Amino acid sequence: MTLPSTKPGRLITFEGIDGAGKSTHIAACADWLRSLGLTVVLSREPGGTALAEAIRNQFLTQACDPQTEALLAFAARSDHLARVIRPALARGDWVVLDRFTDSTAAYQGGGRGLGVDRIAALEAWVHGDLQPDRTYLFDLDPEEAARRRAQAREADRFEAEDVVFFGRVRQAYLARMAAAPARIVKLDAGQPPDAVRAALMADLAANLAPLARLGS
Ligand code: TYD
Repeated sequence: MTLPSTKPGRLITFEGIDGAGKSTHIAACADWLRSLGLTVVLSREPGGTALAEAIRNQFLTQACDPQTEALLAFAARSDHLARVIRPALARGDWVVLDRFTDSTAAYQGGGRGLGVDRIAALEAWVHGDLQPDRTYLFDLDPEEAARRRAQAREADRFEAEDVVFFGRVRQAYLARMAAAPARIVKLDAGQPPDAVRAALMADLAANLAPLARLGS
């Protein structure tokens, strides 16, 4: 087998409905990659650049129609890709993202009912050439997610949505997974955090450690 002449950067994304508890696991993933000697860029969407964070601020607070929501998410993503994600991957860094286009497919496409076609068109336009190497979908029953959110801090306008909305978001995530089974890995977020972490670490070790060695 011919090894690539430059060290390839990799893109790992984390997804799930609000309350699924992905945040602490994202930090653990980044720590583990760093322990392998990799340079990790940890970021989030919407956000990751000054412009995209400004868009995020509006996105989370201003009510707007579903199409505008999707366009705002992709505008933020386009800037994030241009200034942070693509340059990092070109350097050979590993990029770990708290949410990416699967969120737009799930929340705007599914939750808001925009459908798959317009999300697919925007996806092809903005990053048709680039997909995550691995996506972890923290899957959780919307009723349980609502119980967890009720114990957390003040809700933004997405977190304040009802279980019917999050049921649609969840189904749209599962449809994305069915369409990309080699990329998207479902983690049962209803398990205790230690069990979720063990499942995540097992997949990282089995599927991403070999890529890290390939690139070194
Ligand atoms: P997140 O950072 O997970 O929220 P928090 O910091 O409150 O944990 O995500 C922000 C919210 O934006 C979340 O409710 C999902 C939503 N979202 C979309 O609706 N579409 C998108 O494309 C993205 C990236 C996020």
